[in-house]
Amino acid sequence: MTYILAIDQGTTSSRAIVFDAAMKVKAVAQEEFPQYFPASGWVEHDPSDIWSSVAATTRAAIEKARVGVNDIAAIGITNQRETTLVWDRKSGEPIHNAIVWQDRRTSETCQQLKAAGHEPMVTERTGLLLDPYFSGTKLAWILDNVDGARAKAAAGDLLFGTVDCFLIWKLTGGKVHASDATNAARTLLYNIREGRWDDDICKLLSIPRSMLPEVRDCTAAFGHSRADLFGREIPIYGVAGDQQAATIGQACFRPGMMKSTYGTGCFALLNTGETPVASKNRLLTTIAYQFDGKPTYALEGSIFVAGAVVQWLRDGLKIIGNAGETQALAERADPAQEVVLVPAFVGLGAPYWNADCRGAVYGLTRNSGSAEFVRAALESVGYQTRDLLEAMRADWGGAAKGVLRVDGGMTASDWTMQFLSDIIGAPVDRPEVLETTALGAAWLAGSRAGVYPDADGFAKAWALDKRFEPGMEETERTAKYARWQRAVNATLRV
Ligand code: G3P
Repeated sequence: MTYILAIDQGTTSSRAIVFDAAMKVKAVAQEEFPQYFPASGWVEHDPSDIWSSVAATTRAAIEKARVGVNDIAAIGITNQRETTLVWDRKSGEPIHNAIVWQDRRTSETCQQLKAAGHEPMVTERTGLLLDPYFSGTKLAWILDNVDGARAKAAAGDLLFGTVDCFLIWKLTGGKVHASDATNAARTLLYNIREGRWDDDICKLLSIPRSMLPEVRDCTAAFGHSRADLFGREIPIYGVAGDQQAATIGQACFRPGMMKSTYGTGCFALLNTGETPVASKNRLLTTIAYQFDGKPTYALEGSIFVAGAVVQWLRDGLKIIGNAGETQALAERADPAQEVVLVPAFVGLGAPYWNADCRGAVYGLTRNSGSAEFVRAALESVGYQTRDLLEAMRADWGGAAKGVLRVDGGMTASDWTMQFLSDIIGAPVDRPEVLETTALGAAWLAGSRAGVYPDADGFAKAWALDKRFEPGMEETERTAKYARWQRAVNATLRV
C-alpha cells in the first residue's frame, strides 16, 4: 500500500490527486462546480455540489492512476477554509447552502460587534479579527435566518462544520464529526492559545457547543471512508486547511520560513514557531499545523484578489483570452506610463480589512491600453504581497527578510514572479512540485501511514524549480511602492 489519495476541495473546483511512494503525482482529476451569488457580496456553494464533485474526482483519480484501491494507504484532505456548513445530525441534510469565505453578508454584524468593543477579546483568543471572512458570524447568520434553526440547534439536532469536517462526515457516512486544528483556527470560535472552543465567544454569537466538531491534530485518525465509496474502507489520516497544507507542502517547518500561495486570492504564512505572535499590523495569528497535540503558529496575511484579477482581465474586460497571454502584454506595456490598479473588488483584506471599499485604477492617460491594464493587474499582486511582508517584518523583526516560497496558478508567470521579487526586494523560490497544497495533505496522511518520511526527510525532498532574484534599483522600488500606497490610501477614502 504505497499510494496516497489527496482531496483538495477548493473555492471553485474540487481536485483529487493520487501520489506515489516517491510523493510524485500519479494522477489528477478536477471538477469545477457552480458559484451562487444570491445578492451583492454574497457567495454560496451547494453542499451537494461540493460532495458530488469530491466523490466523482476521487473515483476518477483512482481510475486514472490505474492503482488498485488496496494500494491506497490513506486519504488526506485539504480544503477552502472558513466556508460554513450546517446540517441535520440525523438526516445528514444541510439546512442551507454553504456560505463561502468570500461572502460579506455579515459585515454589519461584525461592525456592531466591533462597536460594542468585542474585537480585542476575540483577537486575543482566536488570532482573528471581526471580519465577515471567518465562519463564526456566518454560522450565526444561518441559525438566525433558517426557519426553526435556532430551536433545532439548541436541541442538539444540528451540526456545524467547515468543508474538511463536512467531507469527513460524508466520507465516513456520518460516523465522525471532527475537524483539525488549522480549520478550527479559522472559525472565530476556537481559542488558539488554549486549544479549545471558546465558551465566551460561542455565547456572544449564541452558538451552542453541541454543534461544534471535535478538534484533532492534522495527522490524527479521522475514521475510514465508507466501504461502498471506493470498494474498501480507507483511513483518513491527514487534514489541514488549504493554506496551511501549502505551508506544509512547501516544507516551511522552521520559524522564519514563509510561503505565499497565488490562487483566487493570495495567502502568505510565516512560521513563527511554538508561540503565537500577536500582530500589531492587522495580520492574523493562526495555527500552521498541529502534531502530537502541539500547535505551531503562523502569522498570516490574506489578500482576497490575486489570480481573480487575471480572471477579471479575461472574463470582465475580455482583453485576454487566457492567463498565458498576460506575460507578452505586460512585457509590451509602455514603461513611461504609471497605471496602478487597486483590485479591491470585494473590499481589501490584510492589512487594511476594509469590507466596503471597491476597486480603482489610477494614472490612466489617452495612451493607456490593454498592455498597461495587464501590467497593472499583475503588479497589484506584487504590491499586495509586499504589504503583507511589510506587516510581517514589523510584527516579527527581521525574520521575514528571507526567501519567499511561492506556489499556485499565478506562479507559472515568470514575469509576475520577477516583479514580485523586484518589489519585495527578496528572493522568490518556485518549487518543482506546484501541487503544493495537495502534496501537504498527502504528506500528512502518508507520514502517519508510514509511507512517507518524517518532516526532516520531507523538507530535504523539497526541490527548487527556479529562484527569482530582485533586479530592480532600490530607488525605483521605493518610488513604485510609494505610488501603490498612495493609490490604496485614495481608494480607502472614496
Ligand atoms: O481562506 C480561504 C482559502 O482557504 C481559499 O483558498 O485556494 O480555495 O481560493 P482557495
